[in-house]
Formats: sequence, structure tokens, C-alpha cells
Amino acid sequence: MLIKDVIGKIKAYSRGISENGKPINDLTTRDQVLYGETEKECTGIVTTCFASVDVIRKAHELGANLIISHEALFYNHGDHTDWLIETENKVFVAKKELLESCSMTVWRNHDYIHSGIPDGKGGWDDGIFKGFLSETGLIGNYIPKINQAVRYYVPCDLAFDNESVESIAAKIIKGAGLNGLRIVGDPKKKISRAQIPLHIMGLNDNETIKEVNRKDIDLLITMEQIDFTVTEYMRDGHDLEMKKEMINVGHFNLEEPGMKYMLKWLPEALGNEDIPLHFVKSGDPNHFLLAESL
Ligand SMILES: [Fe+2]
Ligand SMILES: [Fe+2]
Repeated sequence: MLIKDVIGKIKAYSRGISENGKPINDLTTRDQVLYGETEKECTGIVTTCFASVDVIRKAHELGANLIISHEALFYNHGDHTDWLIETENKVFVAKKELLESCSMTVWRNHDYIHSGIPDGKGGWDDGIFKGFLSETGLIGNYIPKINQAVRYYVPCDLAFDNESVESIAAKIIKGAGLNGLRIVGDPKKKISRAQIPLHIMGLNDNETIKEVNRKDIDLLITMEQIDFTVTEYMRDGHDLEMKKEMINVGHFNLEEPGMKYMLKWLPEALGNEDIPLHFVKSGDPNHFLLAESL
């Protein structure tokens, strides 16, 4: 199968509807071919969150010539490279040479996988957050929303039966294969209502705070997490003896299990074509140096 047909089949398998209710526009979607040719036979597919240098090398070793990544390849929204070319950026040049020497094609699957994959019952699931909840064993904690076209899409509400923050964090570390997690608040605190919010990065954070207040959320399980908005708020709530705790998983750490989970539905999407399929973790880039170990 040609690489362009692999991409076409995955798009056709997905729900393909944008947040505005209209079909995803292939000219403006994030889901572009970020590097390489598509008019060639696909020798193997690697799914990953971020097509890092290590992932590209590993994909080549596995004999794959298509990486399907969830995130951008070249460090900015839209994968613009003019600024990198103009400034002769050394990392960019070396990464491009690596891609070239491996004859690698990289296609981004972001909008399509979030738009929905079939749930097997005539409905749709967000492929990334379903993957995270499945791989970490938290899927049974999911609270469905009424009249929601796509399940698991964030903000994603979860219910727990007085489970400790530490216990939930342990499930995430094991299920997502992480080096550790950052907790703001008390790891021993027992919580009942949690949420995976939208990214906390200073854009819609008042809305997140309003929702935490309205729904009495005890615990936020976060992707991007800056200090000066929601984290401040949760810390104040915690100090006022309210349950307001945070587990900061990290953006790519939280989304990567969704690209592992993709291997569960990719064979069906491709019509069970005989193409070798692999998941290669871009992996947790964090290492933790704890004060007590010094
Ligand atoms: Fe993302
Ligand atoms: Fe995403």
C-alpha cells in the first residue's frame, strides 16, 4: 500500500469532524505530511507521540518508512521551518539529514485522532484520551457527559471512591511508563472527583478554575501546567483545607499512550493489510533529582 493510501484510510476511518462541527479541512488541518514522500510503498509504520531523533532511528532499524506522530516535528505550531532555515539552525539541519538518510516520511495525526475513532457501538471515542485511560486502567473511572458526540474528549471527568492521589499517580506512572510524576498538594489526600482539563497555559485558565469550582473537582490530572493561574488557585484551595490537588503528567507523557493504543485499531483502519506496525515510545524526557537523595 502506498503511504498516501495509508493516510487516506486512517482519515476515512476517523470521524473527521472539527470542533466547529464541520468536516476537517485538509488544507488547514494540523494533520499534514511533515516530511517526506507519500507516493511510495509503505514498508512499515511506527506510531509515536513525538518523532524525536531516537524514534526516527528506531523506526529505521525496524524497517519502517512512515512515522505517524501526534505532535509537530519542528518545534512550533504549524511546523513552519522558514525561521529555522533562515537562521541555519543546527539541530534542525541535523534532524533533516537524519530523516533524509532514512528516507522517512512523517505524517501528523492530531486532529483526526481527537475527532473520534469508532467505539464499536456506532459512536465515537477520542483516540488519544481513550488510549490514556485504557493504558493506565482509569477507563472505569470515566464519567460520560450527556449528549457528547465524542467520548473521553477533554475536559474529561473522572470519579473515584476515596482513592489517594498517590495511588492514582502510581497507576499513571506504571500505565504510561513514566519516570515519575509531579504532585502539587498532598499525595496522601483521598479524592473522589477528578478531571483532565484542557492545557493549563494561560489561555483559557479562568474557565478551568470556574469549572473546578462549579463541579467541586478535587484533583486535576494535567498536561501542560504553568504556575501562575490554575496551579496558584489549587494551592490556595489546598491551603484552605479544601481538596484541591494536582498530578502533572505532562503534555506528551499524557498523550503518548493514545498513540500506543492506536495499534489496537490501526489494523482495522487499514483493512488488515499486511504492513508491519510498531509503537515506539518517544518516552518520558524527565529525570527527577530528589532533595532527600542528596
Ligand atoms: Fe498535544
Ligand atoms: Fe492531542
